[in-house]
Amino acid sequence: MSAPEIRVFADPEAVSRAAADEFVRRADEAIKARGRFAVALSGGSTPKRLYQLLAEPPYRDQVDWGKVEFFWGDERSVPPDHNDSNYHTAHEAMLRRLPVPPGHVHRMEAERTDRDAAARDYEAAIARAFGVAPGGEPPAFDLILLGMGPDGHTASLFPHTTALKERARWVVVNYVPKFATDRVTFTVPLLNRAREVLFLVAAADKAEPLHEVLEGAPNSDLYPSQLVRPAGGRLVFFVDRAAAAKLSSATARVGA
Ligand code: 6PG
Repeated sequence: MSAPEIRVFADPEAVSRAAADEFVRRADEAIKARGRFAVALSGGSTPKRLYQLLAEPPYRDQVDWGKVEFFWGDERSVPPDHNDSNYHTAHEAMLRRLPVPPGHVHRMEAERTDRDAAARDYEAAIARAFGVAPGGEPPAFDLILLGMGPDGHTASLFPHTTALKERARWVVVNYVPKFATDRVTFTVPLLNRAREVLFLVAAADKAEPLHEVLEGAPNSDLYPSQLVRPAGGRLVFFVDRAAAAKLSSATARVGA
């Protein structure tokens, strides 16, 4: 894997606009090369502005939305209309405003009582969408968007949790002690097959974990984002100055 590409921007708005430009570029490239763009969205609050931008001119007019397949990299165990739902965040900010065929929006049903069945069904849905058999080598998403928590987690791969060790399944249930709740999440093997992983990281409380993830000693049980190293893909970080505050100048170059 090539070294991570790290670009520093003035503020979260600049990060979001750069991410929208990157989304459009990757979508155009994928649709031209393979006839469709398979993207996994991240949760949390950071990407919300990106989603709003993509649903408005000029960005909304730059993507062939009928050829985009939306997935989620993780989901909370709440209904799809709940404010904590990652699906809800993306639907309200973007999806309800775009001409995406309903069959192209693949929601992670983490609210189901049998969450392991929900995870297995999601893996099967991914396999169907990519035309591969479930359980084999994971397919390659064109783009996976990720965030990073103040504890260095990404998707729902939290420090010291069992999902960090999963090397066969693509999607699993992960119990998160700090929240005393189950999440459903992509696993490391699926993340690391992506053609591109784009981390969006903003705000001062991410400075320490970002430094540890990018420059610290290997310690992925404590900083799970260190596990994301797409073997044949690009690893890109778009960060704001506050989050980059503890990075060495050699690590981060100022964004265009
Ligand atoms: C989730 C996310 C999670 C998120 C980070 C950062 O479901 O919470 O997928 O991995 O990206 O926690 O969240 P913020 O963007 O809100 O800081």
